Amino acid sequence: MEEQTINLPSNSQNETLLKIWGNSQLQGHVTISGAKNSALAIMAATLLSADECRLGNVPALVDINHMGNVLSSLGIKLHRNQDCLEINTKHITTSKPPYELVSRLRASFFVIGPLLSRLGAARVPLPGGCAIGARPVDLHVNGLEAMGAQVRIEHGIVHADIPGSRNRLQGADIYLDYPSVGATETILMAATLAEGETRIENAAREPEVVDLANFCNAMGANIYGAGTNTITISGVKSLHGVDYSIIPDRIEAGTFLVAGAITQSELSLSPVIPEHLTPVLAKLRAMGLKIVNDEPNCLRVIPGPLQATDIETLPYPGFPTDMQAQFMALLSISQGDSVITETVFENRLRHVAEFKRMGADIRLKGQQAIIRGVSMLTGAPVVATDLRASSALVLAGLAAKGITTIQGLHHLDRGYDNLEQKLQQLGAQLERVDVNYEELPLEISMGVH
Ligand code: EPZ
Repeated sequence: MEEQTINLPSNSQNETLLKIWGNSQLQGHVTISGAKNSALAIMAATLLSADECRLGNVPALVDINHMGNVLSSLGIKLHRNQDCLEINTKHITTSKPPYELVSRLRASFFVIGPLLSRLGAARVPLPGGCAIGARPVDLHVNGLEAMGAQVRIEHGIVHADIPGSRNRLQGADIYLDYPSVGATETILMAATLAEGETRIENAAREPEVVDLANFCNAMGANIYGAGTNTITISGVKSLHGVDYSIIPDRIEAGTFLVAGAITQSELSLSPVIPEHLTPVLAKLRAMGLKIVNDEPNCLRVIPGPLQATDIETLPYPGFPTDMQAQFMALLSISQGDSVITETVFENRLRHVAEFKRMGADIRLKGQQAIIRGVSMLTGAPVVATDLRASSALVLAGLAAKGITTIQGLHHLDRGYDNLEQKLQQLGAQLERVDVNYEELPLEISMGVH
């Protein structure tokens, strides 16, 4: 029987991985960048005025670039000069950012409130879900409708209009079924230019909401109670441009505190606002770590034996869901059994499988991860499933024995400003490596009859 071999053309694939040498010892001081989730909302809020705004301490992130592209698609002029972003919103040429841009960054949806208030109309694509959940925007829409907007969703586009007879939204009393950060911010921004007073009950209390309110007040808005669960906004006719500096990123700061804890290294970081991290500091201290705030806007972590603890993610001032994955890495090598309960997003435990590949002993039970501490993680090839999981895998790789490689670095670049460089400066050994998956030519031997 004659054999015939067919060599299929090889099909090369390139990918960049992050390679981490484990057992890292870190030391030194790290500078924390501006808060991503504050900068994104504030960039949208610049649309509320036709004057130029200058934002300082804006982090260098893919998400910030995406939001800049969304604003540019509306006719806005942006100029970046290091960590300063000049935004000129004098000419808005359209009320409809393209789906291709909005789909890349859910936070793009924040433009709907300012566009509606500024132009009387907005056509914003529904942001899709993402790895961590469906991420609906019903609370945003309900809030705008309560303020008199007419809203309909057609072909995946949210059409919002202020009825012809009026040219401003109307102040309203709005109760949020859930203290949604985004919905609070959408309603707050829209209410700044509404006629009359808006009250948001059960509002989100996150520091990024407060930063947004402070920015809008600097532009001439009248917002009271930001940071509490009732925010009151007295609408004004117009807002003016302003220079404003973004608060430090509490999640980046928390991530570096965990980096020190998980590698048993003493690290300091600044700038930071310690009260933005109260639940995180409380949990680190409960686990046996010493956290020192001996200089203004600076924190230092002093390592110690890690004890298990339980964590439940909650809206601020509860434990932040954006720190959940990082603490799972830490609890994986802490003595004893811990339980993490994720209550904010319905699908934010996908990193459990990746930690298990590194030797972690974790059992999933609905929205709970039951963790039995092991003495040491071991390096392995892993995949990042979302932004915060990617940073958690980096932390696990730093502590593990052996080499870890991480796929899915686009998640990391969305939310961390030069994470690798900052870790390298602290003594970590990690670098990006390009790999070329040369698919072996498939050899098919076919019997020929
Ligand atoms: C913000 O997302 C942050 N993103 C998230 O950070 C953060 O995890 C989240 O707040 C919670 O703190 C930005 O600020 C850009 P939510 P947001 O509205 O506003 C449900 C990161 O890693 N919900 O408070 O989308 C929703 O499904 C990111 O930096 C509705 O049901 O969060 C979720 O279960 C990830 N209807 C819960 O509320 C709505 O209309 C919390 O969502 C809105 C939200």
